[in-house]
Amino acid sequence: MAVDLSVRLGRLALPNPVLVASGTFGYAREMAGFVNLASLGGIVPKTITKAPRPGNAPWRTVETTGGMLNSIGLDNDGIDTFLEHHLPYLGALGSPIIVSVAGGNYDEFVELAARLDGRPEAAAIELNISCPNVSHGVDFGTDPRMCEKVVAGCRAACDRPIIAKLTPNVAAVADVAAGAENGGADAISLINTCLGMAVDWRRRKPLLGNGYGGLSGPAIKPIALRCVHQAARRVKTPLIGIGGIANIDDVMEFLVAGATAVQLGTVNFYDPTVAGRVLAALPDALKTLGAERVADVVGTLNFPGLAPAHARCGSPSPVPNATEETTKTGGAG
Ligand SMILES: Cc1cc2nc3c(=O)[nH]c(=O)nc-3n(C[C@H](O)[C@H](O)[C@H](O)COP(=O)(O)O)c2cc1C
Repeated sequence: MAVDLSVRLGRLALPNPVLVASGTFGYAREMAGFVNLASLGGIVPKTITKAPRPGNAPWRTVETTGGMLNSIGLDNDGIDTFLEHHLPYLGALGSPIIVSVAGGNYDEFVELAARLDGRPEAAAIELNISCPNVSHGVDFGTDPRMCEKVVAGCRAACDRPIIAKLTPNVAAVADVAAGAENGGADAISLINTCLGMAVDWRRRKPLLGNGYGGLSGPAIKPIALRCVHQAARRVKTPLIGIGGIANIDDVMEFLVAGATAVQLGTVNFYDPTVAGRVLAALPDALKTLGAERVADVVGTLNFPGLAPAHARCGSPSPVPNATEETTKTGGAG
C-alpha cells in the first residue's frame, strides 16, 4: 500500500508534512550537504524584517538541559536584500519556501506581506508574531484581537497563503489561535520558543547578553504538544506543530495530537540529517496506524474526557481556559 504524504494547509499544498523551522536552517545553503533540500515538505528561512537588524549583544545562545536558549534578536539582512539575493536562490531549491516575516507594528507587517505579493518563489508567508527576543511586535501573538487584525491585514495585502506563528508564552494559546482563524489564516504554526533565562551565579549575571531568551529543543516538546492539542480542539484551521521534534516518534505524536505538518528546529543544529531520516520513516509509521495518507491520523488522539478520536475534520470541541485545563488533567506535580 502506497502512502500519500501530501498535505493541504488552506491554500497551501505541500508534498509532505516535514518542514524545517525558521532560524534553525539558515538560508539553507549550508545544509545542502546534509539533507536533500528538494525532498523537504518546506523550508522556512530566518525571519526577515523591514530593515536589516544586527541582532542582540552576545552571548546569544546557551546550552541548557534538554535544549538551548537563544536571544539572537532577529539578526537578518532585511527585506530588500532578501528579495534580491536570497529568495531567487531559495525558490530554485525545489522545496516550498515559506517566508517568515516580522514587523515592528501593524503597518510594517502589512508592508512586508505586500512586498511578497505575486512572488511565486514564496509558497506562503509565516507571520512571526511570537519572537521573545525583540521588544516590539509580540502583542500580535498574545492578544487574539490584534492577532486577528494583523492576519487579516496581511491576507488582504498579499496573494500568498498566510501562516500565523504563535507563542507559548500566553495563558490561553487556543484564544490566540481563534484570533488567527478569524483573521483568515491558512494555517497556524506553534510553538515559537518559551521565554527563559540562564544565570552565572558567580558573576551574578544572566548568561545571555539580552538577559532573557527563548528555550527550544526536546525540553519544550510537552509544552508544544499541549499547545497544539488545545489549538486543535478550538479551531479548524490546519496546524503546524513545532517544538523539540527530533525523531519519527515525535513527528507522529504531533500529528496525532492535531498537527497536519511539523517543523524541525533545534535538532538541525546537532543533527541536520534528521529531517531526511524522519521523512524516510514516515510511510511505515503511518502504516502502523493503518493510515493511507497523513490526514488519516491528524487529530486522532483519544484524550480523557473527550469523544474518542476527535479527528480534525469534525466539529471542534470547546477548550476550557488554561486554569480549568490544568485542573482537569491533574496539573503539574
Ligand atoms: C537559534 C534560534 C533562532 C530562531 N530564530 C527564529 C526566527 O528567526 N523566527 C522564528 O519564527 N522562529 C525562530 N526560532 C524558533 C524556531 O523556529 C522554533 O519555533 C523553536 O525553536 C521551537 O522548535 P524546536 O524546539 O524544534 O527548536 C529560532 C530558534 C532558535 C533555536
